[in-house]
Amino acid sequence: MKRYFIHTFGCQMNVNDTNRMSEVLAGLQYQPTPVAEDADLIILNTCSIREKAEDKIYSALGRYRQVKTQRGALIGVGGCVAQQEKDKILKKVPYVDFVFGPDNISKLPEILDKVLIGRARVVETAWVDSEEYVFPRADPESSRGRVTEFVTVMKGCDNVCAFCVVPHTRGREVSRAFPEVLLEVAALARVGVREVTLIGQNVNSYRGGLGFDQLLLRVAEVPGVERVRFTTSHPHDLSDALIEAFRVQPKIASHFQLPVQSGSDAVLKRMRRDYTVQEYLERLAKLRAARPDIAITTDIIVGFPGETEEDFERTMQLTEAVRYDNQYSFVYSSRPKTSSALREQEWGEIPHEVKVERLDRLQKLQKKIAAEINALHRGHPVEVLVEGRSKTDPAKRFGRNPQNKVVNFDGDAPIGAVVEVQIDRTSVGALYGVQGRTLLAPTIEISEAPLAPELCAVA
Ligand code: SAH
Ligand code: SF4
Ligand code: F3S
Repeated sequence: MKRYFIHTFGCQMNVNDTNRMSEVLAGLQYQPTPVAEDADLIILNTCSIREKAEDKIYSALGRYRQVKTQRGALIGVGGCVAQQEKDKILKKVPYVDFVFGPDNISKLPEILDKVLIGRARVVETAWVDSEEYVFPRADPESSRGRVTEFVTVMKGCDNVCAFCVVPHTRGREVSRAFPEVLLEVAALARVGVREVTLIGQNVNSYRGGLGFDQLLLRVAEVPGVERVRFTTSHPHDLSDALIEAFRVQPKIASHFQLPVQSGSDAVLKRMRRDYTVQEYLERLAKLRAARPDIAITTDIIVGFPGETEEDFERTMQLTEAVRYDNQYSFVYSSRPKTSSALREQEWGEIPHEVKVERLDRLQKLQKKIAAEINALHRGHPVEVLVEGRSKTDPAKRFGRNPQNKVVNFDGDAPIGAVVEVQIDRTSVGALYGVQGRTLLAPTIEISEAPLAPELCAVA
């Protein structure tokens, strides 16, 4: 039997696509191996959101070149860099055998035939943009042993944010029909999954026969499901109906990832994010009124072309005003085909040292806020869905609270149980404590180690 190794970069869309690739490869009698050196087929599932992400892929390819020389492994490049660069990858990296875009995963058997039998180098990056796009249904058996799982509800992005490659690498938005989503969730719940995260680049513009708020409410009612999460959302789609769903359905977990990108209206305008800071804050206030304990996280870009010190100060002020539970902040990176890349000269590029210095200031502030918010839990119980052994200390258990914070604790609760944990210590990134009473027993027995072998390395 042949063995494959997939190296996954980037976001949850890619993690999910890696699972789909694994299923297609299983059908071709390939087995996963956690060691690239043992593989007959190596696939890089790539991300191109920032230049650094793209650079990582070329250095990883350099490492896998040896496996090709030593055991003749095939090397394929999938994901967003594949979609963006197409045949340029074959020219740039002579030992890559095939390149395939995110819409061409189901074509892997034909691609491998062409490479192995036809001895050709292959590029497959055609879009499947139509509403007839079939979202492959995940095999629930591959989720046995997990309590939390991702479910794709849409693909692509119809927004036009000036800095972003996603519309170019993932194509137009297509939503998955809601009965399909519900069937997949029900199948996952039957193998013990208790928390599902609905994923897409823009989930709250979902149009699969129901509004996104209705989809969340229906998913929350699937027997066995205790928590529903979703990621990610654009602030302009944070509708009153979605806020109402948070008010009425406690199974929708108390966490909202709401990327703001900048605290300056002038920068937001150039970014083509169609809201003002004021509008963003008003939406947030409504959401917090409906769900007072909700954790808010965000994405920020620092050093967008033309960002002045005052613009950046506004981002600092917004960070203080909102008091985010967490921020994913990055320095602006110029990306091919994006509208901001074309206007950098006109707006004014920000020197690298300035960008890095601003990012550092922002991250220090955010760390302080996150530590303060987490410290409020000290001496109080939190509700934890148990996921397994703690990654930092195998003698302890770990899970997450509704706000999506990692909780490490002393106790012996079975995987899949919901327990109270009394918090005695906190850090910027996690809460620590001791197990208290059990709130819910697991729906089925889940063994300690996940049954599925580790399929890929995520970076
Ligand atoms: N669809 C999601 C974003 C996906 S990309 C949304 O709109 O929320 C994840 C994050 O990467 C973005 O929110 C943005 O903060 C960051 N990002 C995207 N393009 C970038 C670029 N060119 N430079 C730096 N950061 C970028
Ligand atoms: Fe990119 Fe904007 Fe779409 Fe998010 S909403 S994926 S930032 S274009
Ligand atoms: Fe990266 Fe593509 Fe996701 S660019 S962030 S892997 S959609």
